[in-house]
Amino acid sequence: MALKGVTIVDHPLVQHKLTLMRKKDTSIKSFRQLLKEIGALVCYEVTRDLPLETVEIETPMQAMSAPQLAGKKLVFAPILRSGMGMLDGMLDLAPAARVAHVGLYRDPATLECVEYYFKAPADIGERLVVVIDPMLATGNTAIAAVDRLKEAGARSIRMACLLCSPEGISKFQGHHPGVRIWTAAVDERLNDHGYILPGLGDAGDRMYGTR
Ligand code: URA
Repeated sequence: MALKGVTIVDHPLVQHKLTLMRKKDTSIKSFRQLLKEIGALVCYEVTRDLPLETVEIETPMQAMSAPQLAGKKLVFAPILRSGMGMLDGMLDLAPAARVAHVGLYRDPATLECVEYYFKAPADIGERLVVVIDPMLATGNTAIAAVDRLKEAGARSIRMACLLCSPEGISKFQGHHPGVRIWTAAVDERLNDHGYILPGLGDAGDRMYGTR
């Protein structure tokens, strides 16, 4: 399914790891490891078009012109708690990135989100912000996180996800049309409790063994 503003990271390694994560008998340890690994692979794609500049360097053999990253530096903004599962993999690839923590939870009755923690770098407006939300389900949490990051000064924002629902993408894009999404898959639909089907269950619970 081709969706405007959405990049499906269809690399075979990502798809294979996602299938392992979906299986209900996958252990907490494996689930956590796989989420970290997919975090790195999704980060690779989210940053694919970062601008480069040419600098003059000397190898042990001779001088040369070589590319290095130019322009905006990165902020990774995991939405607590499941966003933390992809963060370490992303930091493995971009270790100098700053981190903004966004503490939001879904009220199970209303499915609306409630903020309980927010801390972002002061220069967030000068950086490319990659919001990490493994499960873009209703879209409410991602919308609130991007609202909050914009309020804090963020101007250049992308979403890094693992799984999205079509409903969540459509709602998110209605609120934040300029924010592109990278995800390993777009699933069939949401159920009445705001869970993605076929999905993989509750990512936070599966990462931390809280159910
Ligand atoms: N959050 C999850 O962890 N899983 C879902 O299916 C939806 C939201």
